Amino acid sequence: MKREEVRFGYEVFDTAESLQADDAALLEAARKVTAKAYAPYSNFLVGAVAILNNGETVSGTNQENASYPVGICAERVLLASAAMLQTGIPIRTMAIAYQNNNGESDRPVSPCGMCRQYLAEYETRVKQPIRLILSGMKGKIFVIESAGLLLPLSFGGADLK
Ligand code: THU
Repeated sequence: MKREEVRFGYEVFDTAESLQADDAALLEAARKVTAKAYAPYSNFLVGAVAILNNGETVSGTNQENASYPVGICAERVLLASAAMLQTGIPIRTMAIAYQNNNGESDRPVSPCGMCRQYLAEYETRVKQPIRLILSGMKGKIFVIESAGLLLPLSFGGADLK
């Protein structure tokens, strides 16, 4: 028997002002775009904005539905849009923020399991890690070098061969 271990590190910033300028601007855009979320059931408005290798930005917000499972997270709205509008162009960095209308929005939340799967496949597809910036409307900010780090031992297309 041998034991394997998976670890990853990430950066924690106390305020947006301590981020590098382009990251601070991307986070600000993600916070702003939360206003475009359609989240009448959860009151949890998520906004994501990504900057691509070609300098273009793509955004997404969560889109809920009265038939709850039909709803889509902000990250997957963004990724599907990017795949269509900017086909094949890798995403350099994605900032994800949220406004919780039922509580606080003062700490980072990280993508749900389904979005982690989608993010991981996007990275594989365009052969570049997606850097993540996670935060609420205020408070600490997490910076993670690759979304795939959030999904160790992931299942992927190679497993189907
Ligand atoms: N949600 C996202 O859009 N992204 C996340 O990373 C976590 C959750 C959405 C799904 C749902 O509309 C609401 O937030 C509450 O779960």
